[in-house]
Amino acid sequence: MLRIGMLTSGGDCQALNAAMRGVYRSVVLNSTEPVEFYGFIDGYRGLMKGDFKILNDEDFQNILTVGGTILGTSRTPFKLIHEPLPDGTDKVEDMKQTYYKLRLNCLVMLGGNGSTKTANLLSEEGLNVITLPKTIDNDLYGTDMTFGFQSAVDIATRCIDEIHTTANSHGRVFIVEIMGHKVGWLPLNAGIAGGADIILLPEIPYNLEKVVDVIEERDKEGHRFTIIAMAEGAISDKDAKLSKKDYMKKLSKYAFPSPSYELADQITKKTGREVRVTVPGHIQRGGTPVAYDRVFATRLGAEAGKLILKKQYGFMVGYKNREMIKVPLKDVAGKLKTLDPDARIIQEAKAIGISFGI
Ligand code: F6P
Repeated sequence: MLRIGMLTSGGDCQALNAAMRGVYRSVVLNSTEPVEFYGFIDGYRGLMKGDFKILNDEDFQNILTVGGTILGTSRTPFKLIHEPLPDGTDKVEDMKQTYYKLRLNCLVMLGGNGSTKTANLLSEEGLNVITLPKTIDNDLYGTDMTFGFQSAVDIATRCIDEIHTTANSHGRVFIVEIMGHKVGWLPLNAGIAGGADIILLPEIPYNLEKVVDVIEERDKEGHRFTIIAMAEGAISDKDAKLSKKDYMKKLSKYAFPSPSYELADQITKKTGREVRVTVPGHIQRGGTPVAYDRVFATRLGAEAGKLILKKQYGFMVGYKNREMIKVPLKDVAGKLKTLDPDARIIQEAKAIGISFGI
């Protein structure tokens, strides 16, 4: 009997169900021995508490196109992993206990950065672990692509598309604040696809005067509006010079809901222009996965199934240079895949006149 535990951890995204379906089918259809799948509820929390349900064929029917996760998810911050629970129990020990009690052969974890750190820890503790790269941020090290990303790019792009007409009607400056946590992959791609005039990214601290110059230049050229695709983690060159402590202090006393609103206020003060901020927020993680993510997540799931059947553990399944690969968890955990400010895609965006506020 092959016993496989599976869980989804961290913020959800599109195609989690498609990926789990891929894992389940590839193992069940190709295993020479009977298989039992244990789905842990709400991420690592379910593994800690031994809260699971046995997953059968019916659980994986009609879920390819369904967003969210059939298992539920939760955030278990890695920095608190060694902090005991209120009842004094050790989280890592609890997870190991559940694993051993159920006599699992392996654990499949679908998660992003923090969750992969925990998976690596469990692997170092002796559990057989395989992970799949999930996040709309596309910031997981060791893979060119994460599933959920293309779906989120599509949604954020549509949001910028819609803003165009109202921006044009009113002759306004619009800032569309796009998710992506501390990296710029999502805002960059959505910004290019949506035809943003200015894209502001965490990796390229912007200069306020340069942003204002672009808006005024566009005014002179007769454009009625300017659209700024701004990463939620974008930062001005001034703020980038602050120490992390001082920047956090500034944010803690902030009069604005986020840096986009501060930038809107600064632009209005400098130009007298009406500026509006649109925050699509969690809509970017919602709804049905686009075809790319369905295919990609299915492939990742099938590759994970192959590794399980070959008893190869301690890997994240990833995608590099158009090839499906397996990356040792220790090479992924704790590293962030940021954008290179000199990347080709940024040079190309600049070449067609998109400003990065520098
Ligand atoms: O990591 C995915 C993500 O959607 C980020 O883009 C965003 O910063 C964060 O999660 C939001 O987290 P939460 O859902 O906990 O508010």
